[in-house]
Amino acid sequence: MVLRGIVRCLVAVLVQGVVCANLASAEPTIGVDVDGNLFINSSSSGGDARLLLNGVDVIQELADLRRLYAGRTTTASTTTVPTTASTTTTASTVLTTTTAPANTNVTHFGTVGCQLENVPSGVTHIQGSFLLDECVQLRSTDLLIFSKLVYVSGNFRIYSFYSPRQFNDAVTNVDGLKRTLTVGGFFSLGYISGLVDINGLANITSIGGVLNLASNDDLINVDGLSGLTSIPGNVCLNDNNGLINIDGLANITSVGGDVSLGYNRKLTNVNGFQSLTSIGGDLGLSHNEALSNVNGFASVASVGGDLLCERFKQQSRLFPQQNEQH
Ligand SMILES: *[C@@H]1O[C@H](CO)[C@@H](O)[C@H](O)[C@H]1NC(C)=O
Ligand SMILES: *[C@@H]1O[C@H](CO)[C@@H](O)[C@H](O)[C@H]1NC(C)=O
Ligand SMILES: *[C@@H]1O[C@H](CO)[C@@H](O)[C@H](O)[C@H]1NC(C)=O
Ligand SMILES: *[C@@H]1O[C@H](CO)[C@@H](O)[C@H](O)[C@H]1NC(C)=O
Repeated sequence: MVLRGIVRCLVAVLVQGVVCANLASAEPTIGVDVDGNLFINSSSSGGDARLLLNGVDVIQELADLRRLYAGRTTTASTTTVPTTASTTTTASTVLTTTTAPANTNVTHFGTVGCQLENVPSGVTHIQGSFLLDECVQLRSTDLLIFSKLVYVSGNFRIYSFYSPRQFNDAVTNVDGLKRTLTVGGFFSLGYISGLVDINGLANITSIGGVLNLASNDDLINVDGLSGLTSIPGNVCLNDNNGLINIDGLANITSVGGDVSLGYNRKLTNVNGFQSLTSIGGDLGLSHNEALSNVNGFASVASVGGDLLCERFKQQSRLFPQQNEQH
């Protein structure tokens, strides 16, 4: 009964519309079939006659949404292992938020390697690892395709041990990674000569494993890591010849594994560890020839393993009153 009333009402309203439509062309129709389904058809002989509901061209809107949705599906299908889950998520976002397709998540399934053309544009999530190992042509600007990346479920590494130095100088910064928040596994940057700073990483607040920065000859500081507050695994900062300070670690309060700082020839202090209160494993400080004090460890209340150190500058003065603490 109620339904019939609504139908009548719609018909009454639309009859007025029909009058207008008739002026332009022939035969828009409204009908009800035996099952009670209501059919409203705009004129078919007038070219592109529209069907307006409260002034909204609903057919056109639907077509636009379908196109948008199709675009997102195409993007998703370029992922290495697309699943229905990503498509569903994207679709529902597009259909409910027509103004903001740019805010949808784009997930890459599988490991990201040197073949960056396999990465969907606007990628926000990597369900897998990010391992740019020995990517000889890699440049800082290539990393811009990750400018919306917020999440890596697995490990993260940019590493270039075997490639000749000249190829790697093209990665001078990691600004393309500035949205990255979370890395589920280890985080490692190694043998990237030419890398001067990692300020582009300032949004990383969480890593799930080891923090490893090794043999980056030109790296001056680690300021980009100031968002990190705890490291579940080891912290390895070895053989960074240009490293002047590690102040960027100042928010780290605990390290689950070892802290290994060695062969950083220009490092004069470890003040960056001023907030560190506990180290789960060993503390190793070897061959830092410019290191004149370790006051930065003043807050460390417990070290789970051994204290390993040799070859400091002014070695005898390194631990003046801190031996009791360690
Ligand atoms: C409305 O248009 C559709 C598709 O063109 C057609 O199948 C249907 O029969 C039409 N309905 C009426 C009531 O004219
Ligand atoms: C998109 O990603 C963000 C961050 O990981 C998450 O909080 C949000 O729920 C995701 N949105 C959708 C629609 O999946
Ligand atoms: C961190 O991400 C926000 C957007 O989420 C961005 O505005 C900001 O510039 C990023 N930080 C850096 C250092 O790029
Ligand atoms: C520590 O974190 C706070 C807030 O999260 C931030 O404002 C500050 O810059 C960080 N400290 C360092 C040394 O980066």
